[in-house]
Amino acid sequence: MPIHILGTGSYAPEKVLTNHDLEKMVETNDEWITTRTGIRQRHIAADHEATSDLATHAARMALEASGLAADDLDLIFVATCTPDMAFPSTATLVQENIGAQNAIAMDLSAACTGFVYGLEVARNMLECGRYKTALVIGAEKMSSIVNWEDRGTCILFGDGAGAVVMSSEAGGQGGIGPCNLGSNGALGELLMVPAGGSRRPVDAQVLIERSNTICMAGQEVFKHAVTNMTQTAKHLLAEAGWDPSELNLVIPHQANKRILEAIRIRVGVPKNNVYVNVDKYGNTSAASIGIALDEAVRSGRLHPGDKVMLLAFGAGFTWGGMLLEWRTPES
Ligand code: COA
Repeated sequence: MPIHILGTGSYAPEKVLTNHDLEKMVETNDEWITTRTGIRQRHIAADHEATSDLATHAARMALEASGLAADDLDLIFVATCTPDMAFPSTATLVQENIGAQNAIAMDLSAACTGFVYGLEVARNMLECGRYKTALVIGAEKMSSIVNWEDRGTCILFGDGAGAVVMSSEAGGQGGIGPCNLGSNGALGELLMVPAGGSRRPVDAQVLIERSNTICMAGQEVFKHAVTNMTQTAKHLLAEAGWDPSELNLVIPHQANKRILEAIRIRVGVPKNNVYVNVDKYGNTSAASIGIALDEAVRSGRLHPGDKVMLLAFGAGFTWGGMLLEWRTPES
């Protein structure tokens, strides 16, 4: 049973934090950040905005684009590593906000790979035939877990949300194809938020150490991101029997422009066929692919017949990719 994407949506908070703004906060400069990462600015949520608020904006846009009503939704998944709170889930908060009373809702935790994991879980549940429609959202308020005194990490991250509505019924534009996912818990310590969970709840010492914020071995993460996303891309191309030159658009997790270029060269994707918006948003973790996909759709970048690859990598480590074939809605 083919599963389709019916509509996409995205949201970035109003406040923009530029590299020049960061120069006033930590010992860094625009040239260093731009050269090493490709990031020029990131969006930062207001104090009163939580992840569910960002997710709700993206969800409403995706629903409107899909032509479905909130009542039509059977599943709502929110991929996030910055939930509003431990429970209730961010997905149930979104369910209430949009009035999707017939849906079941839950969160998924796979860090920056969460959106692709969410698409695959939803696809499989739709293929089973018991559910017909799903809303998958990647949403993050990364600014809430960033150490704003650590120049090695605070320059990288931003806030935002991206969403898709999927259906098992005909009519969608994005036909969902093969997916390949992986995890390796042995490397978890290279990218983590060490405290703030049940292992080490927040106490005075945690706040002094700031160990409830992101800790990262940047160069190690860089290497594993390139290796795992390259392998995933090659695996998916082999499975589909596609040549890399046939890929009209690769939409990778937006971590670092140099990571994206290294993957592009290793996989053999044509120069302008990798979607890059990390300059505008920074790394929005689980939100990044959804935001980029929505931008690509709304800017007319995708056409019937286009072959698209989503590629992700994140803490865990986790990684994954998915192929899409763009169609005219009726075909
Ligand atoms: N501004 C200026 N200098 C900085 C800096 C900043 N924001 N951050 C680090 N530096 C300094 C370091 O202190 C170091 O100085 P030293 O040589 O005097 O010790 C120097 O720049 C090089 O640091 P290094 O960490 O080796 O830089 P890098 O080229 O590896 O770039 C990252 C750092 C974080 C940009 C890069 O490793 C990266 O992007 N890694 C992947 C991170 C990622 O994508 N994580 C999420 C995955 S989902």
